[in-house]
Amino acid sequence: MEFGHETVVLRSGRRTRLPIIVAVHSTVLGPAVGGCRMWGYARWEDGLRDALRLSEGMTRKCAAAGLSNGGGKTVVVAPTHRPLTPDERRAALHDVGDIVAEFDGRYVTGPDAGTGVADMGVIGERTEHVFCRPEADGGSGDPSPFTARGVVAALRATCLAMSGSAELAGKRFAVIGAGNVGGQIARQLAAAGAELILSDVDPAKRSLADELGAAFVTPEAAATAEVDVVVPAALGGLLTWDLVPRLRCIAVAGAANNQLAEPEVAELLRERDILWAPDYIANAGGVVNSVAREILGEDPDTAAKRIESIADTLTGLFETAARTGVTTAVAADALARRRLAAGI
Ligand code: PHE
Repeated sequence: MEFGHETVVLRSGRRTRLPIIVAVHSTVLGPAVGGCRMWGYARWEDGLRDALRLSEGMTRKCAAAGLSNGGGKTVVVAPTHRPLTPDERRAALHDVGDIVAEFDGRYVTGPDAGTGVADMGVIGERTEHVFCRPEADGGSGDPSPFTARGVVAALRATCLAMSGSAELAGKRFAVIGAGNVGGQIARQLAAAGAELILSDVDPAKRSLADELGAAFVTPEAAATAEVDVVVPAALGGLLTWDLVPRLRCIAVAGAANNQLAEPEVAELLRERDILWAPDYIANAGGVVNSVAREILGEDPDTAAKRIESIADTLTGLFETAARTGVTTAVAADALARRRLAAGI
């Protein structure tokens, strides 16, 4: 990985002694934004690597979405062998809040894997630079419905590019990950009349599949299912050299960050004629809504239009990629780079 980050803080939390990383990749376009991941890592170095990659992804996400913000990310390296006690969790969130406060607005945190709205309220006890506090406390609340909405808009654009029709009804989707975002994508797809396969590492999620009339299978089976679109909505790194040759879908489009295990996997997808919706384009809905509501002061309808525009951005990228013979990943990176170079 190339190191191009502006600032990376790696510190033992004052209260918890847990390793905490706050990575600010870029503030070229404006204050950096990016969620706080609280996750079990075997080694703190793995958490650092995640923070570096995810914060860089946030810079691209914000730039491509037309936001005047840069990218950052926080990772709390939690133990793998046991969950944090409620007191430890609170203390860790206060540790995060103190470090975020030191950035004095140059970085604004928010929810990510392992954290939610209530946690943002706790971070908010230490710093005002936090998105998605509970609505009762003046925040914009849970971003996952907005992320899901943006992903579904992206799925329509993907269907349009692969079949000439943006219609979801009758198309087949395999959703991998039935968490906050994946679960809502699955619900929206089912409501739109799509055929659904659902998967999660947590067997309890079978009840959602039952409710939606979806087949519940292992993540491996979902990834290699014969469907129109595979929808990654769990942690990153799904698209590996090993998996891509075994895919039996027409397209991959979803909510997970960092879906490509390595950047070059995008080439392999193209060789196999599998259309890939760049992750940070498709999954920008949550951060777009937070910035629109909490920084720009927009009303819900105006914010919703921004989220829906993800479909147009993606359609444009699919066209550019096809016309110029590059991968969709390269086309998306070029879009983000153009905005960063212009600095506005
Ligand atoms: N987890 C979100 C993402 O990866 C980050 C985020 C959401 C940040 C909402 C701020 C507000 O895009």
